[in-house]
Amino acid sequence: MTAISLARLERRLKALAKFGALPGGGVTRSAWSPQYEEARAWLIGEIRAAGLEAWVDSAGNVFGGTGIHQFSSAAPVVLTGSHIDTVPEGGTLDGALGVIAGLECLHTIVESGASHRRPLVVAAWIDEEGRYGSLFGSRAFCGMLDAAKIPEMAASDGERLVDVMARAGYDAAKAPDARVDPGAVAGYVELHIEQGPRLEEAGMPIGVVEAIVGVRRTRVTFVGQADHAGTTPMPRRRDGFLAAADYALKARDLVVKKGGDRAVTNFGVVRVHPGVSNVVPARGELIHEMRAPDAALLERLWKECGALARRVAKRREVGLEWHPLSATEPALCAPRVQAAVERAASELELPAMRMYSAAGHDAQNLAKITDSGMLFIPSTGGRSHRIDEWSAPDAIERGANVLLRTLLALAA
Ligand code: GLV
Ligand code: MN
Ligand code: MN
Repeated sequence: MTAISLARLERRLKALAKFGALPGGGVTRSAWSPQYEEARAWLIGEIRAAGLEAWVDSAGNVFGGTGIHQFSSAAPVVLTGSHIDTVPEGGTLDGALGVIAGLECLHTIVESGASHRRPLVVAAWIDEEGRYGSLFGSRAFCGMLDAAKIPEMAASDGERLVDVMARAGYDAAKAPDARVDPGAVAGYVELHIEQGPRLEEAGMPIGVVEAIVGVRRTRVTFVGQADHAGTTPMPRRRDGFLAAADYALKARDLVVKKGGDRAVTNFGVVRVHPGVSNVVPARGELIHEMRAPDAALLERLWKECGALARRVAKRREVGLEWHPLSATEPALCAPRVQAAVERAASELELPAMRMYSAAGHDAQNLAKITDSGMLFIPSTGGRSHRIDEWSAPDAIERGANVLLRTLLALAA
């Protein structure tokens, strides 16, 4: 059985990391940014140089296929991939690994002439990190985009999707046309860094993903009253920020108490209006994110947080705006894909551990249309979504070789 080339894989990872590289390390490469568009053009060149067909769909997803240049139910494909967008000040492996390792596997297969019945395709899904909602490209591909919402989709800095897509030469209204005939996809498997500490702590080289968390994002705004910050007596203030802060602390306690170790929550965006030191905040706005691998638990915690927000608003005599932004459901990985990953790891004498993914991934959308699964490699120190995200080269090599065998087994 052939093996991937770590040198080639690392060369490509390093080349990709230059697009949007930050002076202190790490990368900022948001979907549709000029840095992203340069990386996309580079990737298409690498796909072609590897002897694959390259194409881009109307949502902006990039594909590279063995001998095919479109999806057709007449020749269902086995898909792999991930994403090449990053969070602001992110690392060089989140998403990039799955795309570059997928490309390396297909390159190795084409080069070695390894036999496979089904065509293989590597995908770089656009906007996994959710600049415009969550997992945009794979949602479009899996037929889950709401066309009516596209005109109003905007990033948190206000940039509209229609404008950034037009700048790159795409028509956002056509993004839903990326929907694939589910009969054209015979299976999906994605390699990713774990992004957390569990594999490293367990001393396990490979994680076999059983389920992927659902993620809910809600904009919670407490509406108070602007007032002079010097002259207004403290008891008379209706401070939108303090209500938001009170809610954030209480919601965190609620999720920890009732979610056990299977739910997490975060407040990664906080805005205060008008946002000057001499005005009592009229509005305190939070983006509240919550995750759990269990749909019923996620729904219960979300409802309880809604009731908590109403109680906080009432006690602090401010108004409340509760605006759901996105909701992805937890997904189960296909037993067939899990078994193929486990078999591939065992052929390479690599111990593997079953686990759920605490991060969201495009694989959860693919699970709606095909047998979908993932494998993880350890993240050093559990670090991710930060500039010093890292996995050791031998960990990367092991993961890519497990991916190679899994792809060949699924395509056999
Ligand atoms: C994807 O990076 C996520 O936020 O889980
Ligand atoms: Mn990420
Ligand atoms: Mn990712």
